Amino acid sequence: MGLKGAALLAVYCGASSLSSCKNESVSPASTVDFTLDLSSATYSKLNTVGNYVISNGVVIARVSASAFAAVTQVCSHENKANVIFSGGGFYCTQHGATFSTTGAGTNANGSKGIQAYKTTLTGTSLRIYA
Ligand code: FES
Repeated sequence: MGLKGAALLAVYCGASSLSSCKNESVSPASTVDFTLDLSSATYSKLNTVGNYVISNGVVIARVSASAFAAVTQVCSHENKANVIFSGGGFYCTQHGATFSTTGAGTNANGSKGIQAYKTTLTGTSLRIYA
């Protein structure tokens, strides 16, 4: 859904003036604040270490029995929304950028790091926020 929205926005921007496009493409990244219900079928995989889900353009991973990690799905290398969780860290399937669970770049393509978010688990509610 996020990708679809971005694609539609791009088309709209192409048909409008540059200033209008600038105003409408303000990034919502700083407003990330949502909650996932880990008792629901959709997100219960986060109860198992090593699993991840993607929601609201954010990749959320269960990194240990007591910890989660969350980063934007959009890679800092060439802005492709291809970031996943793999092998204990975040990984971009486009050109192989790698990031730590705190968003630090861990190889050349990931050298710019990636936007990470905070997480708080209360009962079965996992909040992801900036
Ligand atoms: S866009 Fe992610 S590695 Fe290039």
